[in-house]
Amino acid sequence: MRDKFNREINYARISVTDRCNLRCRYCMPECGVKKISHDDILTLEEILRVSKLFSRLGIKKIRITGGEPLLRRNLPSLIRDLKKISGVEQVNLTTNGVLLPKLAPELISAGLDGINLSLDTLDEKIFADLTRRRLFSQVLESFQALLNQNFKNLKINCVPLREINENELLKLATLAKSNSIKVRFIELMPIGCAWESGLRGIPTAEIFSTLEKNFGEFLPIYDKNPLKGPAKYFKLPNFIGEIGFIDAIEHKFCGNCNRIRLTAEGFLKTCLSFDFGVDIKNLLRSGANDNEILEKIRETIYNKPREHFFNGAAKFRDSRLMNQVGG
Ligand code: GTP
Ligand code: 5AD
Ligand code: SF4
Repeated sequence: MRDKFNREINYARISVTDRCNLRCRYCMPECGVKKISHDDILTLEEILRVSKLFSRLGIKKIRITGGEPLLRRNLPSLIRDLKKISGVEQVNLTTNGVLLPKLAPELISAGLDGINLSLDTLDEKIFADLTRRRLFSQVLESFQALLNQNFKNLKINCVPLREINENELLKLATLAKSNSIKVRFIELMPIGCAWESGLRGIPTAEIFSTLEKNFGEFLPIYDKNPLKGPAKYFKLPNFIGEIGFIDAIEHKFCGNCNRIRLTAEGFLKTCLSFDFGVDIKNLLRSGANDNEILEKIRETIYNKPREHFFNGAAKFRDSRLMNQVGG
């Protein structure tokens, strides 16, 4: 369906848990976050019911997020069920990769279409400092296993941070030279912890020019796929893979936004930056029928905000942390 700014909304990001086995400094506090009780999280059946309603409104792409989604039990069975929904063309996953060595085969055989792997550094020490956990070897193992089996749709997410992983960016970009993957650099967004952590992001323009100096001129890739996410992709000379940039701060991409989000607690959130939306869990658990819920979803999507307000006053920001929203 289209919202009131005539944007086609076809991509739902569904967070299946707010818990995480890492504590990335820009995302979660050291002590973790107040645990949501198990009863307050949507069940897999509820997620499936909402996803079916989403598909009736034109959602064709689903991305499973967290926290860390692989902490949710029975995820492969959810993926298998989501894949069966008529109209859903893609089911993807964004993960930190820690549990992938164990779960990848089951996820792939459930029909998973793509994996976005968060990997901010290839250095074990920087990883431990940034994520506050010594789990780098598991992530590297996941990455290598996916490369070895030529997993069809693999993307790396890196959030460049001044004086933290600044010297890692060329190494990470080089991964796209001989591998058919997309390495994406994401501007740090002022959400939850990132605001207070004191970390500073690196503007896309700076990374762009550093990469060009080292690898040659970027060639933009024009992708007309209506299901695409917010990244802009480029080819570098002699690279098999691609480099992507998600520059939410420098260049708003809200005019082309095709996304909605469902939090683990069942709140339908229409923009990353605001708390506008509707409590779907409440509707589901108060006995509303499919048509009633469908109408609420329709009305909420229609009223999706025009654009984010990251640079604006704090009172406009959603107080949810990134792990509660799923990015
Ligand atoms: P693809 O479907 O593979 O393009 O993935 P994606 O980029 O949509 O998803 P992913 O979970 O890998 O997110 C990468 C980064 O993009 C995260 O930092 C998200 O927070 C950010 N992102 C995704 N959608 C939006 C959005 O609508 N607005 C903003 N500002 N950031 C977004
Ligand atoms: N700004 C930008 N990206 C972020 N992520 C988490 N927090 C932030 C933030 N404040 C990224 C993670 C992960 C993706 C889901 O979101 O690195 O790859
Ligand atoms: Fe976990 Fe992802 Fe947040 Fe890191 S960025 S703490 S991996 S949810």
